[in-house]
Amino acid sequence: MIDLAAKKNITVLAIESSCDETAAAVVVNARDVLSNVIASQIEVHRRFGGVVPEVASRNHTLALPGVVDRALSLSGLELSGIDAIAVTYGAGLLGALLTGVAYAKGLSYASGIPLVAVSHVKGHIAANYLAHPDLEFPYICVLASGGHSAIVNITDYDKLETLGSTLDDAAGEAFDKVARVLGLPYPGGPEIQRLAREGKPCIDFGRPLKNRAGFDFSFSGLKTAVINYTANNQKNGYSKADAAASFELAAASHLADNAVRAALAKGVRSIALSGGVGANIKLRELLTNACAPHGIKTYFLPLGLCTDNAAMIAAEAYFMIRKGKAFAGLELDAQASLKII
Ligand code: KG4
Ligand code: ZN
Repeated sequence: MIDLAAKKNITVLAIESSCDETAAAVVVNARDVLSNVIASQIEVHRRFGGVVPEVASRNHTLALPGVVDRALSLSGLELSGIDAIAVTYGAGLLGALLTGVAYAKGLSYASGIPLVAVSHVKGHIAANYLAHPDLEFPYICVLASGGHSAIVNITDYDKLETLGSTLDDAAGEAFDKVARVLGLPYPGGPEIQRLAREGKPCIDFGRPLKNRAGFDFSFSGLKTAVINYTANNQKNGYSKADAAASFELAAASHLADNAVRAALAKGVRSIALSGGVGANIKLRELLTNACAPHGIKTYFLPLGLCTDNAAMIAAEAYFMIRKGKAFAGLELDAQASLKII
């Protein structure tokens, strides 16, 4: 077996296809992003109001060869310059994951380049190492995406402890479902953010889990409150912008509150935001304001590293290799419900 862990520079070609983005990236040492290509299927799924799994798989199959070729050519490298091929193997849509896993396995087998199986969620967290070279352990990561919501205490690249996770919907899922109720297109997060700017957060949709200790999340009650409110006020008319602003504030407060309480409970001085919902401006604002009195530093990602991408998968693979984690074999299978940590 090649001793990659001891190599000075490790160049990873990563492939990501867990949901509706087909992505490939070439990254050196989880630091230099030589290429980061994303083929989004948003337009394809928008007409259905959300991601259609079978359609996503088919589109990944069509897009993968071109996206990987483009990532390689933009990096200026040939396949021979790649040390490891990383691929997201879970969590996500099973068929979508399988397209990337099969492609990566084929490429690895044909080229003899070792394969690294990466957790999508850990990839979202590793995006922080790409963007924040100054981020020190320990830190709390608020992971808020379309599929996951969690508060994670991170003490080393491979030492992660989940302090809380969602009891029902993921944060992004709630944004997407509420957007649909308000007649906004998929994906709902950016649409709610845009509409919320035109409204006031004057509707009380309640505070999730307000009497419960710990750091878990619940978003389905908020979603139901919006559904009930819109149904009850359909006849009299109501302001969609106010509903969007009120939901956004409630959801973002829930995320920010848990994060700050977790940091204080653990005596941690840094909080990083990961995942698509981490792009939300209101959430960033609330978190910044809540952290300031406690001297807690906040770390926000550039938007392209919040939502799904393959550079974050390459970053996680790099630290797995450095930590001597085993390479994957051709028996690698996709795992739709891979546990968060
Ligand atoms: O991390 P991501 O790209 O995919 C998953 O792993 O799920 O997250 C996508 C989610 C979607 O639910 C989308 O509506 C949400 O992130 N999102 C946002 C914003 N941008 C994307 N939610 C709130 N505010 C945003 N600005
Ligand atoms: Zn994601």
